Amino acid sequence: MFFIFNNSMKCFGLIFILTTFTYILAVDIPCAERRIPNESVVCVCNTSYCDDITREIPLKGAFVTYTSSKDGLRFKKDRGTWNVSHIESCCLTTLELFPTIKYQIVEGFGGAVTDSAAINWKTLPLELQDYLIRSYFSKNGLEYNMLRVPIGGTDFSTHAYAYNESPENDTHLSNYKLAPEDTLYKIPMIKSIMQVATAPVHIVATTWSPPLWMKTHQTYGGYSRLKRQYYQTYADYHLKFIEQYNQSGIPVWGITTTNEPINGLFSLASFNSLGWDITEMGEWILNNLGPTIRKSAFKDLKLLAGDDQRATIPYWFNVMFSRYPKALDYIDGIAVHYYTDKFVPAAVFKAVTLTHPDKIILSTEACEGSFPWQKEKVLLGSWDRAKSYIEDILEDLNYNLVGWIDWNLCLNMGGGPNWAANYVDSPIIVDKDKQEFLKQPMYYAMGHFSKFIPRDSIRIKVLEKKHFFTSHLRHVAFVTPKNTIVVVVYNDGQTRSIRLKNRNKQATLNLKAHSVTTIEFLYE
Ligand SMILES: *[C@@H]1O[C@H](CO)[C@@H](O)[C@H](O)[C@H]1NC(C)=O
Ligand SMILES: *[C@@H]1O[C@H](CO)[C@@H](O)[C@H](O)[C@H]1NC(C)=O
Ligand SMILES: *[C@@H]1O[C@H](CO)[C@@H](O)[C@H](O)[C@H]1NC(C)=O
Ligand SMILES: *[C@@H]1O[C@H](CO)[C@@H](O)[C@H](O)[C@H]1NC(C)=O
Ligand SMILES: *[C@@H]1O[C@H](CO)[C@@H](O)[C@H](O)[C@H]1NC(C)=O
Repeated sequence: MFFIFNNSMKCFGLIFILTTFTYILAVDIPCAERRIPNESVVCVCNTSYCDDITREIPLKGAFVTYTSSKDGLRFKKDRGTWNVSHIESCCLTTLELFPTIKYQIVEGFGGAVTDSAAINWKTLPLELQDYLIRSYFSKNGLEYNMLRVPIGGTDFSTHAYAYNESPENDTHLSNYKLAPEDTLYKIPMIKSIMQVATAPVHIVATTWSPPLWMKTHQTYGGYSRLKRQYYQTYADYHLKFIEQYNQSGIPVWGITTTNEPINGLFSLASFNSLGWDITEMGEWILNNLGPTIRKSAFKDLKLLAGDDQRATIPYWFNVMFSRYPKALDYIDGIAVHYYTDKFVPAAVFKAVTLTHPDKIILSTEACEGSFPWQKEKVLLGSWDRAKSYIEDILEDLNYNLVGWIDWNLCLNMGGGPNWAANYVDSPIIVDKDKQEFLKQPMYYAMGHFSKFIPRDSIRIKVLEKKHFFTSHLRHVAFVTPKNTIVVVVYNDGQTRSIRLKNRNKQATLNLKAHSVTTIEFLYE
C-alpha cells in the first residue's frame, strides 16, 4: 500500500491513492452533509471545504459503481468483478446489454449561465466561486460540457432588457453592444468555466425577447409578435451576438430560434417572450435566419428550432414539412423543454426520429419548483426533485435525445433573483450571508449522467428481463469514447439485487432503496 500526494489539485486538497490486490481506489472528498427534516441531505461547500468526485479507470474484468440515494449516499463508490458462470438466476431481474445495437450519439449535458446564475456566483468569495465552477465542470466535478446562454435578458435577470433598445426602428442595429450583465457577470463566469472544463464547452444561445420596437406590442412579457419589417433585423440581432461573444473569446456552438414561442402567442408568461406561429417561423428561417447564418463566418453554427414544450414537437415538424420544407434544410434539429413532460409521453419523439433521422433533439431547459402548486420554490434536500430529473433524463435518452441542459446553474435561497417573481429551484443554492453553497440532490442526479457519459458516447440496447414479482427499473446504457460501457439504473423501490449481463459475463448488483447507480466497465 502506498500514498501519492498530488499538490496540483490545490482546491480539492490531498488525494490519497491506495492500491489493493485488484483495484486502485481514489478517495474523494466526501459530502459535508446537512440533513433536512423530512427530506434527503444537501452537501455544504464553504470557503475551505467542498466535496468532489473522481472517475475511476475501470480495470479488466472488474466494474466500478457510483450510487446516490434518498437516504443520503452521494456518489458512493464500489467495485465488483464479473462472474464468468453461465448459470441463470431464477429470481432476479436481468439487464442484458447489446453493445452492437446502437442508437444516438451524445452531444452533452450542462446548465445555463443566466444573469441570475452569474450574479449569484459573483456574490461568493473567490474560493467558493472556484469550488462552484469546479464542482460542475472540472475533472473532480460533474464534467458538464454544455451551456445555455441567454441573448439579452430573461426573467432570471434583475430587470427586463434587450440589446439595442435605442435608437428605435434601427434596422442597422447601430447601437448593439453587450450589457453590463454580459461583461461583469456572464462572460467572466463562462471564461472560468472554459478554463477548467474537461471538454470543449458547447454553448447554445437563445433570445427571449428582442427590443420592444421590433414587437407588435410594446411590452417584454405577455402577447407579442415580431413586426414583419424587422424579420431580417431579428436575424442580424442573433448574428451580432455570436460575433460579439466570439470577439470576447467565447465560441457559440448553436442558437435556438426564440425561447418558448408559445408563451408570446397565447400570453402565457409575464416575462420576456416573443410569439411565433409555426408558419411565420418557417418564413423567417427560410428567408432570414437560415441564409444570414449560413452566409456568415459562423456558417457551421447549429440551428435548433422549437425550444418549447414536448407537446409542440410532432406538430411543428408536420406543419413545417407541409408549408416550408426548405426551412427544414437550414435546421440541425429541435430543442425541447421539460415542463409538460409528466403529462405528454416521450413517444412523441418517435415520429421525429422516424421521419427526420438527420435532425437531433436536444433538451435545452429544465427546472423544478416552477408550478403554482409547488409552494416551496427552493426545496432544500428534495429527493423527489432529483428523481424527477433522473426519470426525465432516462426517458429522453431512451428516445434518442442527444443531451440534457438544466436551467440556472445556481440560484439564491429564494430561487432568484427574478424580475418577474418566477422563482424556481436549482441544483446549487447559494447562501451569500453564510458564505456557503448547497448542493441539492438534483446536482448529483445530473452528475450520474454528465460525468460518465462523455460527448460522442453512443447509446446501446438494454433488455430488461423482469422477474415476475419485482417492479420495472429505469435504465440506459452507452458505449463511450473511452472504450467503456456505462449503465445508469434508477431503483425507485426497496433495496434489491439485479443481474447485469454482457455477452457471456454476469454480475450481481445490489441496488439501494430509492437510488441511482452508474456502472462503468471496459468494453472488452
Ligand atoms: C467548512 O466546512 C467544513 C466541513 O464541513 C468544516 O469542518 C469547517 O469548519 C467549515 N469552515 C467554515 C469556515 O465554516
Ligand atoms: C415532517 O413531517 C411530519 C409528518 O408528516 C410533519 O408533522 C412535520 O411538520 C414535518 N416537518 C417539517 C419540518 O416539515
Ligand atoms: C458466480 O455465480 C455463481 C452462481 O450464481 C455464484 O455461486 C458465485 O458466488 C458467483 N461468484 C461471484 C464472484 O460472484
Ligand atoms: C418607430 O416606428 C414606430 C412605428 O412605425 C413609430 O410609431 C415611432 O415613432 C418610430 N420611432 C422613431 C424614433 O422614429
Ligand atoms: C471567432 O471566429 C473566427 C472566425 O470564424 C474563428 O476563427 C475564431 O476561432 C473564433 N474565436 C473564438 C473564440 O471562437
